[in-house]
Amino acid sequence: MPLETEDTDARTPYQLPFPKDAQDEIVIPSAIPTDERVWVPQAENVAFRPLCLNRSQGYWMNLLRVRKSGVLSRHRHPQAVHGYVIKGKWHYLEHDWVAEEGGYVFEAPGETHTLVVPDDVEEMITMFQVNGVMLYVDPWGKTQGYEDVFTKIEMCRAHYEKVGLGADYVDQFIR
Ligand SMILES: [Fe+2]
Repeated sequence: MPLETEDTDARTPYQLPFPKDAQDEIVIPSAIPTDERVWVPQAENVAFRPLCLNRSQGYWMNLLRVRKSGVLSRHRHPQAVHGYVIKGKWHYLEHDWVAEEGGYVFEAPGETHTLVVPDDVEEMITMFQVNGVMLYVDPWGKTQGYEDVFTKIEMCRAHYEKVGLGADYVDQFIR
């Protein structure tokens, strides 16, 4: 901890402007939205809520919501994923551990998994940071499709336009 000097105080705010090229922060008062329209449907009983769609670094931060019988299709991660379980619980068909409310998971590059919610859970919500790309694959690893920050942005635009929030509603989450 730096020593305090005569003209420095622990509660004195930083006095200089931020770098002129720095981007704006994102502040979202209710990460779990009160307006259902903010959730972007991505499959039956599966929706995501964008928090930060970082096109300059190629990752996205979102809440994933899966309701009973919903499945997040089998996919491969070439890059790391971080997850924090806010509500409910879930597991991957490829692992025997269960991610429970309040838990954190690190998913290492090279993971291929299929996310399911147990029958006794009505709804799970997990915050995920996903880096790079998700490659949807068949059981033998053959690529069937992909998602990246750009497909997420496009899904948001299309959905927000459709539900009346306007396509540019997504802009606030893009950096
Ligand atoms: Fe995943």
